[in-house]
Amino acid sequence: MGGAHHDGAAVANHGRPVPMFDDGLAVPRYPAGSGTGAPVAPLPLSGHVALVSGGSQGLGLRIVRMLAERGMRVVLASRSAHRGRAAVELLGDLADRVAVRELDIRDPGSVARLASWLDRRLGRCDVLVNNAAVLIDDDRDGVATVDLEVVRSTLETNLLGTWRLTQAIVPLMYARRYGRIVNVSSGLASLAGMRRGLPAYRASKCAVNALTRMLADELASAGILVNACCPGPVHGDPNGARLSASADAPVWLATLPDDGPTGGFYRGRTPLDW
Ligand SMILES: NC(=O)c1ccc[n+]([C@@H]2O[C@H](COP(=O)([O-])OP(=O)(O)OC[C@H]3O[C@@H](n4cnc5c(N)ncnc54)[C@H](OP(=O)(O)O)[C@@H]3O)[C@@H](O)[C@H]2O)c1
Repeated sequence: MGGAHHDGAAVANHGRPVPMFDDGLAVPRYPAGSGTGAPVAPLPLSGHVALVSGGSQGLGLRIVRMLAERGMRVVLASRSAHRGRAAVELLGDLADRVAVRELDIRDPGSVARLASWLDRRLGRCDVLVNNAAVLIDDDRDGVATVDLEVVRSTLETNLLGTWRLTQAIVPLMYARRYGRIVNVSSGLASLAGMRRGLPAYRASKCAVNALTRMLADELASAGILVNACCPGPVHGDPNGARLSASADAPVWLATLPDDGPTGGFYRGRTPLDW
């Protein structure tokens, strides 16, 4: 379906022609119809490569779709290549712009393999959407009572995994003096509104917000914009309209112009209190 698996196109990679994606994706057909039937915007971003972690379902998959609709080549990263390929099947013609790669952000080897593949095969990564996360504690858990193994595991994915992937990708952005990093956070991490419940998740996303601020400052002069956002509620949406609304902020932040904001925290396109 969608002609997702054929060879052919070549893109520049350090001056050498290489297949666009080695697991199937080759010829971006411009202009393409979107899987949703929505009009496809002009394609100023068509040479760009975006990486979306946790891209095989939910918000991640919607972000993959919307970036592909904007003309980007998108790497859909999933812990399971099988789930990733099944997700690409849902994208219709846009599948031509999407490659699936395995990625477990808890595993340093997995992260290094993906970064190396991006460098060797595409020579770039312009956009990183840190979407992958877990929520494994409970609204009834408290700081004083939560199992610290749950906290450790949450931080291992949400904080260290995000940090690890970011460290692996920043050099690719730095080399080209261009990048957009979007950390999908949560309003639950806002210190201004902090309250009880989900302590591991809240603390992990709070730490991701801190990373966002520090990294934005570190990379301010390198053309790399770093922002966090809360997508708002993602699930319980039978027709997908809420999902598109939730994806609007990460997609907006992934496609910011050079003079766009950095070091911000947004819900929709409105700044949120840290
Ligand atoms: N749901 C909401 O209402 C809501 C609200 C505010 C913020 N958020 C944030 O929005 C983002 C997406 O949420 P969602 O509800 O769409 O989540 P989801 O459906 O649970 O999807 C999360 C994704 O993270 C991936 N993931 C988990 N552990 C991973 C690991 N170790 N390595 C790589 N990938 C891993 C999973 O990928 P696999 O395919 O590999 O399993 C999964 O596809 C998250 O950052 C979440 O915190 C969600």
